[in-house]
Amino acid sequence: MLSTARLNLRPLTTADVDALVALHADARVNRFVPAFSPTQARERLERVEAQWAERGHGLCAVELRDTGEFIGRCGLNHWPEFDEVEAGWTLAPRHWGHGYATEAARACVDWGFDTLDVDYLTAMIHPENEPSARVAHRLGFAPRRQDTLFGKPITVYALDRPPAPNHPTGGGERR
Ligand SMILES: CC(C)(COP(=O)(O)OP(=O)(O)OC[C@H]1O[C@@H](n2cnc3c(N)ncnc32)[C@H](O)[C@@H]1OP(=O)(O)O)[C@@H](O)C(=O)NCCC(=O)NCCS
Repeated sequence: MLSTARLNLRPLTTADVDALVALHADARVNRFVPAFSPTQARERLERVEAQWAERGHGLCAVELRDTGEFIGRCGLNHWPEFDEVEAGWTLAPRHWGHGYATEAARACVDWGFDTLDVDYLTAMIHPENEPSARVAHRLGFAPRRQDTLFGKPITVYALDRPPAPNHPTGGGERR
């Protein structure tokens, strides 16, 4: 669905249960995002499929273009409790440190501003999750408010829609 220099992104589906369970089972990953049993992963992916069907966006599998290997997930998730669309990213630890999360998330941010009627995108990040905060900063997100997600404190980062090209400061095009 989306391609970057090194990655392909396609909608996550219930066929990805095993990959999602394995991704979130690593303790380095589930320090900040939840671990899933196969049943929980299936339920989560059913909600992902429903969001794709209802809203036309959602979470994506991230795959290496060269090999097709599933390396993680990224995408645009609507949170009804905040009525905001979040850009999210999680990669298997063996693929950290190559810029893949930033590359995938940048494609998702561009896709979001191209196709969604939103003034800004969020990224909800635990205050101690420094690698994720660095991804957010590289994309231009900045902290906007402190909030709570599943009973835990989070910093809500936000990135405003770029100004239209005819705006004095230039920038992106609203379609
Ligand atoms: C958040 C997470 C995806 C960040 O992964 P990451 O590998 O640090 O981020 P990127 O893939 O964008 O890689 C960036 C790093 O690769 C380095 N890098 C190496 N080669 C690179 C290249 N060719 N291009 C770009 N960056 C490169 C960058 O310098 C950067 O390192 P730094 O952050 O130490 O400065 C990862 O830590 C993760 O999955 N955590 C567990 C789940 C989680 O917390 N998700 C977020 C919830 S809010």
